[in-house]
Amino acid sequence: MSGVRRSQPHTREARAAMKAVFFRQHGDPDELQYGEMPDPVPGPGEVLVDVHAASVNGADWRVVAGGYGPVKFFPYIPGRDFSGVVRALGPGVTDFKVGDAVFGVCDVGIEAAYAEQVVIKASILAHRPAGLTHVEAAAVALIGLTALCAVEDTLQVRAGETVLVQGGAGGVASFAIQAARHAGCRVASTTSTANVDYVKSLGTDQVIDYTREDFTQVLSGIDAVFDTVGGEVASRAYAVLKPGGRAAFIASGPKAPPTERTDVTGLRPAVGRDRAHLDRIAMLVSSGAVRVPEITPFPLADAARANAVSRGRHFRGKLVLVVR
Ligand SMILES: NC(=O)c1ccc[n+]([C@@H]2O[C@H](COP(=O)([O-])OP(=O)(O)OC[C@H]3O[C@@H](n4cnc5c(N)ncnc54)[C@H](OP(=O)(O)O)[C@@H]3O)[C@@H](O)[C@H]2O)c1
Repeated sequence: MSGVRRSQPHTREARAAMKAVFFRQHGDPDELQYGEMPDPVPGPGEVLVDVHAASVNGADWRVVAGGYGPVKFFPYIPGRDFSGVVRALGPGVTDFKVGDAVFGVCDVGIEAAYAEQVVIKASILAHRPAGLTHVEAAAVALIGLTALCAVEDTLQVRAGETVLVQGGAGGVASFAIQAARHAGCRVASTTSTANVDYVKSLGTDQVIDYTREDFTQVLSGIDAVFDTVGGEVASRAYAVLKPGGRAAFIASGPKAPPTERTDVTGLRPAVGRDRAHLDRIAMLVSSGAVRVPEITPFPLADAARANAVSRGRHFRGKLVLVVR
């Protein structure tokens, strides 16, 4: 490894070197380099995990680009969610043991899952869902958390309601469609021609090919919208709501986009971190209520290529880095 690395917030007493993907300056996904970084060490209440798979999220290339502001130090390891095996416990951790299969989403503002090892607070870590591989568990962690925060916590969808999930072929939407169906809702979704069959296969009742039809001309009287697309598509979603309807947005920045309608509500889900949501994800996928979305795997060393695909925003399901 070249240069001296300032510790990422959870990385103390650097010792041996692990393989990781990091960037030394903001820019395009090809700023991501594969190399060696110091092993992280768990502090009190923390767990050291041998990462087997790490998920690629739309946030990652934006972090590399500096889209959320400059990172606090370089080199910086991105990556928010992962699945792996507990390697060591920090002082005071009693709810896991070495060798446990776990999955999780790094704490807000603390990343570093694109690596052979990651440290995370035990309180936001969960046991890997029964029956899932590490690649599958990594794939569902942040998308499941986001989908449940939007569909269950924020929109609070109820049986019998009609819900529009915008961007059905994406990871978050793939999970959200199935969570809304599990809640007893009728679900409509938008996607491009190539992904219509995939979105139907998730159980979607009405799939709108946005390259052929304008969803605002096809839908009306919708109880709740969950938008994962952003931009002008998100703003137009208010038009399909019935009076009293509500819409949740996760791709439009920190606030819901404005609307001139006074009879509907725009919401921005708060996507926190906790074990309870991960356990609910595990229950939904292990019971078969939610199917893991289609996954495209990449070797960890190909993180730059995976992030270029992510930035393109026209893939299906999830991109996952296979670490070991
Ligand atoms: N904490 C949070 O707030 C949080 C957490 C996770 C994700 N997010 C954000 O949520 C958004 C969704 O993330 P994601 O990972 O699920 O997917 P994504 O990577 O952002 O998007 C991929 C999907 O978007 C679809 N898409 C693109 N343009 C579309 C359009 N005009 N209409 C309908 N679908 C369209 C694509 O399908 P087609 O090829 O068929 O168009 C593709 O399957 C991202 O902006 C991400 O940053 C926020």
